[in-house]
Amino acid sequence: MLSLSLKPLTPFTSIKPKPSNPPKCCISERGLSFDIGDTFFRYESATGRDLGVLAAAIYKKSHNALRVLDAMCGCGIRSLRYLAEADADFVMANDANEEYGSVIMGNLERVGKRSEENKRWVVTHSDANRVLTECYLRRDYFDFIDIDSFGSDSSFLRSAMGAVKLDGLLYVTSTDGYTSGGHRPQHSLAAYGAYVRPMPYSNEIGLRMLIGGAVREASVLGYHVIPLFSYYSYHGPVFRVMLRVMRGKLPNNSHYSFISYCIRCGNSHTISWDKLSQIGCSCNANVPGSLVVSGPLWTGPLHSAPFLTEMLDLAEQWGWAGNDTGKQLEKLMKQMIDESDPELPFGYIKLDEVASRAKLNSPPLGTILSTLHKEGYAASRSHIASNAIKTNCPMADCVRIVKELQQCSANENEKYQQVVEA
Ligand SMILES: C[S@@+](CC[C@H](N)C(=O)[O-])C[C@H]1O[C@@H](n2cnc3c(N)ncnc32)[C@H](O)[C@@H]1O
Ligand SMILES: [Zn+2]
Repeated sequence: MLSLSLKPLTPFTSIKPKPSNPPKCCISERGLSFDIGDTFFRYESATGRDLGVLAAAIYKKSHNALRVLDAMCGCGIRSLRYLAEADADFVMANDANEEYGSVIMGNLERVGKRSEENKRWVVTHSDANRVLTECYLRRDYFDFIDIDSFGSDSSFLRSAMGAVKLDGLLYVTSTDGYTSGGHRPQHSLAAYGAYVRPMPYSNEIGLRMLIGGAVREASVLGYHVIPLFSYYSYHGPVFRVMLRVMRGKLPNNSHYSFISYCIRCGNSHTISWDKLSQIGCSCNANVPGSLVVSGPLWTGPLHSAPFLTEMLDLAEQWGWAGNDTGKQLEKLMKQMIDESDPELPFGYIKLDEVASRAKLNSPPLGTILSTLHKEGYAASRSHIASNAIKTNCPMADCVRIVKELQQCSANENEKYQQVVEA
């Protein structure tokens, strides 16, 4: 009979790294120095690391405990930051590449050498799925699991759900912009259970596809997930989502459904499962191929505004926001908070599309936003696309507003000319 080993350390994990080249250079992030040696490291991922650390620190404050599993740690910068900044009680830093061992150890020793007395961290070299599954088998659950994976490898979602504590946080990743762009629907179906077609807000779809995949995996285990924040970065691209994993199945009115985009009128809609047979658009377009449908995926809020507000407060306390150096992070978090307005639907409208439908140049984004607010619509910027708006205003009204704004500005120009000429 097959027997499973539940021993704390398995032959697949090791805290003794293989010798490798000495660390190449010493760099710094948020004042912490570390080496990257020959490991995979991206400076541009610093914002994703900042967001992860803030979330972990908030978790530690509310639960008075923080055990972190950094499943694909690279040089160990995240592990170091979870220890030094989020005050993690324990971090397991894992990377399949044994050659990274000495760099990771050297970096973690900056918070104190590992010894009989100091077991605040451990370095392992194993496949992430194996590490996560072994933690589950040992009933060694973590408060916070960070999976900084490549591509659209979704196999970690299920094993991570088994290793995270209930109410714990799971920080998941996709870097497959090609699939979220709708260019490989069979692949998105295999990886995330969603048939994704090209849509104008494909980078938001990337986040929703990833959350939807997690929703599906959680529901198999009798859990559900709530996104605390969803972050898209064009470097990569990288799609990162912080999920809270909770007991209990997905409620019936869950935000897990299909979405449609009508090429003819430019409007998007959610389609609930029981209305699948009635798919159509309110513009009554009967043109074959005018409706693009993707799903199922997450159609609910991308973020939790209260959680992000706590993160922003903490960032200000730490001097990461509210000053010149913290401008970027502050701007991002404020945009995310604005995007959390429950009145806002999924997706965004690119101003280029509105301008092209209006056959006019687009007025400044800020002017359109304030007009939408005056007219009673919910509207915000999107952290994903700088020249786009999230709004519950139908496309036809966006086009009308652009035309009216242009007409106003043309009238004002005419008056000005008359004054100049008089
Ligand atoms: C995106 S990099 C990690 C970067 C790092 N987290 C950071 O913030 O700098 C992904 C890492 O995963 C490791 N890796 C790839 N496949 C893995 C697997 N199946 N299990 C564990 N580690 C893996 C790679 O060696 C690489 O270092
Ligand atoms: Zn339509």
